[in-house]
Amino acid sequence: MSCSCLGLSRVLVAVATALVSSSSPCPQAWGPPGVQYGQLGKSVMLCCPGVSAGTPVSWFRDGESRLLQGPDSGLGHELILALADSTDEGTYICRMLDGALVGTVNLKLGYPPARPVVSCQAADYENFSCTWSPSQISGLPTRYLSSYRKKTMPGTDSERVSPSTGPWLCPQDPLGAARCMVHGAEFWSQYRINVTEVNPLGASTRLLDVSLQSILRPDPPQGLRVESVPGYPRRLRASWTYPVSWPRQPHFLLKFRLQYRPAQHPAWSTVEPTGLEEVITDAVAGLPHAVRVSARDFLDAGTWSAWSPEVWGTPSIGPLTEEMPVGGHLPTQQQLETVAQVDSAAPPRPSLQPDPRPLDHRDPLEQVAVLASLGIFSFLGLAAGALALGLWLRLRWGGKDGPQKSGFLDPMIPVDRLQGAPNL
Ligand SMILES: *[C@@H]1O[C@H](CO)[C@@H](O)[C@H](O)[C@H]1NC(C)=O
Ligand SMILES: *[C@@H]1O[C@H](CO)[C@@H](O)[C@H](O)[C@H]1NC(C)=O
Repeated sequence: MSCSCLGLSRVLVAVATALVSSSSPCPQAWGPPGVQYGQLGKSVMLCCPGVSAGTPVSWFRDGESRLLQGPDSGLGHELILALADSTDEGTYICRMLDGALVGTVNLKLGYPPARPVVSCQAADYENFSCTWSPSQISGLPTRYLSSYRKKTMPGTDSERVSPSTGPWLCPQDPLGAARCMVHGAEFWSQYRINVTEVNPLGASTRLLDVSLQSILRPDPPQGLRVESVPGYPRRLRASWTYPVSWPRQPHFLLKFRLQYRPAQHPAWSTVEPTGLEEVITDAVAGLPHAVRVSARDFLDAGTWSAWSPEVWGTPSIGPLTEEMPVGGHLPTQQQLETVAQVDSAAPPRPSLQPDPRPLDHRDPLEQVAVLASLGIFSFLGLAAGALALGLWLRLRWGGKDGPQKSGFLDPMIPVDRLQGAPNL
């Protein structure tokens, strides 16, 4: 009786082992050779490398003579550790029945991957990057697979199979950086980012939907300069340039916000300049002022950039009275020129905006002349055409072929409409 039970259990174990390790002797998917991985707090199975599946072996901790699991365990070449904790980490050896060493295994314990935290950002209107960080430390070697696809609108099934929606690899540069770049993205499209954390215990995916126009945040403007305006103790002229990361394109301009405050004054004054220059006219005479500037997409996509570093400037200390006498004429003209330069330095409006006065800028006399000559030409043309037609008809039918004549006109102007329209 006991004999048959033993035989049955042998068979079951053999079947189980065959199922567990039917493929290669030891699964070796990850990490350096000889290292196997397990999850803390769970039962862990080690596999003796170098023997075929099911070969009975004895297991020892390296450097210890105590037998952990004998060859009669029924587990073949595998060792099971219940509820592994960190003290189970280390080197294990497996021996054949004759005591010959067949393999060593280094056990490392940790946790399966968790969905990473992902965020995406764009400093221009064509490229964006996504960065990620682990939401839980696994303690195991980890890598991240990053890809993206263009999202299609729900219901457009035909688009789903289209190869133009990806997925594409989101390249990590340098490899292994917690960051990837998408180049040449479409400004109005939605993208689905897939960042998958992978470690020896599995994989976990985070999906994030982004569109360029919502994550857009330009870099701060650059080259901010603050200068006094000679003869004007309450003026400061500030100028700056586009950030280098924002190539200027008619459809993708930046608008700006400028702030200034006198030293020791806590509150900023804000203006929205129209160009790349602004003349502050209410500075406090004699006090240094801090000035800073930030940028945003011209059509309000995304968010304002960070502020540029503050730049300080002090208005010119020349007394106001100097510009009243004759000698004061010069600075006034200079100032006028400066203002004119400010206007001409304004960036071109995006061509999205239609010209509000498509005709008005022409000389009215010129318009009249053009219209008049057009009218004369068309009148002459019509008259000549009618004359020729009449002559031809008269020659062809001698002028008495009434029905034929009206039939000739029929396809163009129905007779009943001609009659029904008193205005004609
Ligand atoms: C997007 O990235 C490419 C490659 O780095 C660059 O050549 C291009 O100028 C970028 N586009 C914009 C609008 O900055
Ligand atoms: C995310 O990426 C992983 C790894 O490339 C892939 O196995 C998985 O199918 C992707 N998931 C989705 C929803 O695209």
